[in-house]
Amino acid sequence: MLILTNKSDMLGVLEAFPEQCKEAIKLARKVKIKGKIANIVVCGMGGSGIGGDLLRPFVKKIPVFVNKNYKIPDFVNRNSLVFVVSYSGDTEETLAAYLEAKKKRAVVIAITSGGKLAEKEKNAIIVPKGYQPRAAIGFLFLPVLKILANSRIIPNQDSAIREAIRGLVPKICSKEGFMLAKKLKDKIPVFYGSEELAGVAYRMKTQVNENAKQPAFWHVFPEMDHNEINGFKRGGKKLQLVFIRDKRDLQKIRKRMAITKKLIKDSTNVTDLHVRGNSLLARMLITIYIGDYASYYLALMNKVNPGIVKIIEELKKRLK
Ligand code: F6R
Repeated sequence: MLILTNKSDMLGVLEAFPEQCKEAIKLARKVKIKGKIANIVVCGMGGSGIGGDLLRPFVKKIPVFVNKNYKIPDFVNRNSLVFVVSYSGDTEETLAAYLEAKKKRAVVIAITSGGKLAEKEKNAIIVPKGYQPRAAIGFLFLPVLKILANSRIIPNQDSAIREAIRGLVPKICSKEGFMLAKKLKDKIPVFYGSEELAGVAYRMKTQVNENAKQPAFWHVFPEMDHNEINGFKRGGKKLQLVFIRDKRDLQKIRKRMAITKKLIKDSTNVTDLHVRGNSLLARMLITIYIGDYASYYLALMNKVNPGIVKIIEELKKRLK
């Protein structure tokens, strides 16, 4: 059992992330979907929705739609599997999407720590309370993966999970995160990955925003080579580009990253973040872990509290 008393202590939560992943898998051990599933929709915002972005490259046989909005797509029907993920259980976009999915009689699985979502969905997967949603990414994403593997919609992920947990070594990843944070300080970070690691690039950007309270952006290869590559001449020096480089990316993508770096290096700043691991899951989680540490250290360098997101809370209050 995960023993963590102060879950708003970002560093403590980061250090316990490998344990969180182990616990997260257990939550979905026995959950399995029966019947024919034609498509998957993941509804969730911010730290709860990122799991949908990460999920996309795992599912090869049916479409996955990541829904970060009040409405769900018209194609959703009884053969759709809809994951509704909201850590608080009170996010209005996600609750609206939940009601629509139920109306359309989709197969719905809710993941939440409580709130209105837990009240409405009696079979919800309940995750521990007290975390910042973004710090509960293991609890919010891994059950989705486990359920799809249990249901044979994606291949078994057991050895990938073991590999990922072995690679989530706080001492090593925090050191790498710290080195990265030093490069990002006083710059505007822009994270780039292949399409497969788009969710990782996006996560790194959002963690800098929420933890370090700094602007940050992201984009993907190969698309960036058709527009963004042209945009560094003016103001490019204010940026710190981070290329997430993965030996397992297509050779064409790796070649593009190398040539792109050479072409833009005099107009901006580029650093490489090399991905470790064999399985897609390990590669994703280890890189995210380094990025999470980087955003934590960047917050300390910026003299801000990584644990609170006052402005998001204020906005939610004003919307009520
Ligand atoms: C806060 C955070 C936010 C929330 C988002 C949705 O830590 O990460 O991005 O995740 O505002 O709220 P929940 O997750 O409660 O549905």
